[in-house]
Amino acid sequence: MSFSQIGDESVKTTTPQSSGAASARGAPVRVSRRGAVAVVALDSPPVNALSRTVRAALLRALLEFRDDDSAKIAALTGVGKAFCAGADIREFSSAPSAPSLPEIAALMDEMEKPLAALLHGAALGGGLELALCCHYRAILPGAKAGLPEVRLGVIPGAGGTQRLPRLIGAEAALEMISAGKVADAERALALGLADKMLEPDAPEAAAYSFAHSLLMEGAPVRRVSESRAAECDAEVFARRRARLKKRDAGAFAPFRCVDAVECATTLPFAEGLRREREMFLECLKTPQRAGLVHAFFAEKRATKTKTAGAKAKVQEIKSAAVAGGGRMGAGIALCFAAAGIPTRITESNPAALRAGLERARMFCEEAVRRGRLDEADMAGRLAPISGAADYDELGGADLVIEAVTEDLDLKREVFRSLDAACKPGAILATNTSSLDINALSEVVSRPERFAGAHFFNPAPVMRLLEVARARETSEATMSSLLALGRRLGKVAVAVGACPGFVGNRMSFAYGREAEFLLEEGATPERVDGVMRGFGMAMGPLETRDLAGIDNGWNIRGLLWRDLPAEFRRPRVLEALHRAKRLGRESGAGYYRYDGPGGEAASDPAALRIVEEVSAAAGIVRREIGEEEILRRCLCALVNEGAKVLEEGVAARAGDIDVVHVHGFGFPARRGGPMFWAEREGLKKILGQVREFHESLGAWWAPSPLLVRLAESGGSFFSGED
Ligand code: CAA
Repeated sequence: MSFSQIGDESVKTTTPQSSGAASARGAPVRVSRRGAVAVVALDSPPVNALSRTVRAALLRALLEFRDDDSAKIAALTGVGKAFCAGADIREFSSAPSAPSLPEIAALMDEMEKPLAALLHGAALGGGLELALCCHYRAILPGAKAGLPEVRLGVIPGAGGTQRLPRLIGAEAALEMISAGKVADAERALALGLADKMLEPDAPEAAAYSFAHSLLMEGAPVRRVSESRAAECDAEVFARRRARLKKRDAGAFAPFRCVDAVECATTLPFAEGLRREREMFLECLKTPQRAGLVHAFFAEKRATKTKTAGAKAKVQEIKSAAVAGGGRMGAGIALCFAAAGIPTRITESNPAALRAGLERARMFCEEAVRRGRLDEADMAGRLAPISGAADYDELGGADLVIEAVTEDLDLKREVFRSLDAACKPGAILATNTSSLDINALSEVVSRPERFAGAHFFNPAPVMRLLEVARARETSEATMSSLLALGRRLGKVAVAVGACPGFVGNRMSFAYGREAEFLLEEGATPERVDGVMRGFGMAMGPLETRDLAGIDNGWNIRGLLWRDLPAEFRRPRVLEALHRAKRLGRESGAGYYRYDGPGGEAASDPAALRIVEEVSAAAGIVRREIGEEEILRRCLCALVNEGAKVLEEGVAARAGDIDVVHVHGFGFPARRGGPMFWAEREGLKKILGQVREFHESLGAWWAPSPLLVRLAESGGSFFSGED
């Protein structure tokens, strides 16, 4: 049934009185009345975010309902694809304006007539908080409900931290709020977040039916705020704080989430609300909030790229293949399989093919061990993957991704064969991380259907996908790969062609500086510890151990070929490679490991190798302070980022940030390297780069873009749409 089909002549749709402020598009809140039931629908596309205009209209609608004796029950819902995505994040950087969400929540809490909420689509943040102020909640299949504010650097600010624990219990609320977890409709029902799940229907019609049935039952007002304070052992909060500290001790909002939920167990409701508001406003002012909001919008922009024509026709990928069954190839095949795309792994050697298929199975087992996949779903996940012993078997594939060893001649050979074997409409893409994709595209007869598709290791886990445009790549190919990336659940970013693209090229500059610091006197633990302290998910050297020293050595060889002779070459990686310390998988690299999954332990033997490298280079080792480690690693990253931007390899500074947050564990709370640099001040960054240029050497030459912007007071981000 749709709302217009309710078929009673008394159905009346109005906008709240004095809603003169409504946008030209239409009123942001629509009230429909049938008999004693009022359906209050947020109507502010695309996701009914609670901007000031929406809040004002909602407040008026609620006041009108309160004062209208003929209206006995109201149901809140949202028009379009979402119930409500919460506060309007774009308003976070301006001063809070009236009416605030807590004011609306307070009015709802005082309401003497029942309020119902019909959740559908996204019911997030402030949206869910409004639903928690209602006395009854129903949910439609496919809805997602949660309080993900912590991901934006704030805590729920309209009573969510006080009401949710009272409704679903403190421990479950703590888990949802401090981790920003979102529940699907089934889970929301199981948690008691929703009272019932309704059959699929148009939201306004479902809201009416729900409220009408409540009215018929004589359902009373039932305030969450009046239910008993949530109980929870203090130990639960202590454990959560310890876990958060282990993950990122420098984060601010997650700890405030724990504090706020704990208040729900120790303080009266009104006092808890007051504390929540204080903490919310405190979070709002932090640079971490600014960084996370930047990261949120940068991701939205990057994935709606302007470099690939939005209007270009997207080719649907119905079947795919991966050439090469190594760790990357098998991982990429699993990404396709997870999206239900039939995929073939090809290897000409039967043993290598078996090993590739086996690797895909091992990835799944690992996912089961880590709780990312249910054991029962494993067979289904692997089902779309099959083997192919010959390229000729790939004739029907819409897309083939090459993932063989980083060797230009080998890859060119592979592409010649793929070009001959695949249908003319198929897209061919390379997963190279360091080679010149133009040198690959020139061997195929369809350069317009050729591009880079750079997945990150481990492919089924890492969200980043760099889609790289070669000289002749068409808009349609770029758009098709970006759309495919989204279908695979990746953050797909369009980049230009250059060895290493955006991510690895910058990471190379960063890792090089980390290695120089080792040669000059730092230990691996010290360098990694400082960078982790900054918030990086991993330090640069432990990352290299994870990726494999042989891999790093191979890529370095390729990237070094074009390095000017006067550039200093780091030597530690080479020495480790010579000593067969090939990283985590081999049990030793910069660190020592008890097995591939074991903890990294300091290793005097690695330090001896580092000291020998220093001695051979005539370097007198010295004590290196935290500030120098931090500055050298980060300024190297930013200076290279500025070059990447100036050369057009990245279309926007925000894209660079997205690449590093999603592909390299850069802390989202700092926005990304380019956002961090802006916050530090480009003048300051340039000053440091110049100082390093003078004291350390030619590779520190400042990017001309950085010089121009720093000297003119400009911004990496000006002009970004
Ligand atoms: N505020 C402002 N704009 C928002 C928004 C919000 N809360 N949520 C989404 N948008 C915008 C997006 O930026 C995007 O804009 P463009 O089209 O201009 O790029 C548009 O809405 C559509 O969003 P998506 O492309 O992301 O659409 P989707 O269908 O893939 O996802 C979504 C929809 C699940 C709602 C997702 O956008 C999302 O997760 N949004 C953030 C939700 C959130 O974190 N809410 C908490 C807000 S903080 C809060 O509420 C504080 C409080 O307690 C008072």
